[in-house]
Amino acid sequence: MSPFLLTRTLPVDATEAALRADVLAGLSRRPKTLPPKWFYDARGSELFEEITRLPEYYPTRAEREILVARAADIAEASGARTLIELGSGSSEKTRHLLDALDRLHSYVPVDVSESALTGAAEALLAERPELNVHALIADFTGGLALPGTPGPRLVAFLGGTIGNLLPEERATFLHSVRSILSPGDALLLGTDLVKEPETLVAAYDDAAGVTAAFNKNVLEVVNRELDADFDPAAFDHVARWDADAEWIEMRLRARSVLTVKIHELDLVVSFEEGEELRTEVSAKFRRERVRDELGAAGLRLDQWWTDSADRFAVSLATAV
Ligand code: SAH
Ligand code: AVI
Repeated sequence: MSPFLLTRTLPVDATEAALRADVLAGLSRRPKTLPPKWFYDARGSELFEEITRLPEYYPTRAEREILVARAADIAEASGARTLIELGSGSSEKTRHLLDALDRLHSYVPVDVSESALTGAAEALLAERPELNVHALIADFTGGLALPGTPGPRLVAFLGGTIGNLLPEERATFLHSVRSILSPGDALLLGTDLVKEPETLVAAYDDAAGVTAAFNKNVLEVVNRELDADFDPAAFDHVARWDADAEWIEMRLRARSVLTVKIHELDLVVSFEEGEELRTEVSAKFRRERVRDELGAAGLRLDQWWTDSADRFAVSLATAV
């Protein structure tokens, strides 16, 4: 088996500094917010994988259906020799692409979760010992230092993770994706679609409480990394559909008045009873919005594929 390369593009202390800055800024404003990338320590990555198997959480199954049906088209259209996957997680669905991309030289999974990356790379190499896997521990919203592997490049951003960026963050992100592509290279983008609120809310508030545990995991991350004393049981999980913004918001609502000490920041944060901390938005899309946002970044929407129930879309866009 060829070993995979694991590169950390940000030093550990830069990650710590980013967490400190996000917690300080996010818990000092009203409404309080935390960015969703901090869900994904080893436990958070495991909980996300559990979410993908829940009966209510349809996006993973819907996207897999599309990838199975369209992998050959994607391979032919892109002719990719390097597949870069942003927020690759377990790389489970990516296997369908890897099987179809018959000219592939290298697979470059990029994720903030070291445990997800190493788990995925080990599993992939056990099945495909010939694959060059160059895993990058990196924040995909920062500049990416990519390995010098051959083109054409295909960047995959699956799962609907683009919906976890706010609109202005999405625009910046799509421009940065365009900047790592040459004309003719492609972006494969998964987007969850606008649908009836009941289906959406159930997907983010499952009966087994796995999404609630995932949501509260961000408090455990802050407790461990910044020596804080959040009591996760003191908060309720909230998933709400915002019909104007067309996104689901996940929040944590304080069950009573409480204060939290964040020792590493010398910070005491107060919550009123019922006060909510926003931990994630998950935007849902329509075709026109995807086309326009891609177009604004110099990416032409060439293909738009949906699953049989029109719940989720995978777009193939070309850098122009
Ligand atoms: N693509 C997979 C995983 C989606 S979960 C799928 O479709 O199932 C979102 C993934 O993105 C997680 O693995 C998380 O660690 C990663 N992630 C979230 N924010 C990130 C960021 N800013 N930079 C890099 N990875 C990020
Ligand atoms: C990773 N991302 C696309 C997931 C989503 O659906 O927004 C994260 C998630 N949050 C709650 N459940 C899953």
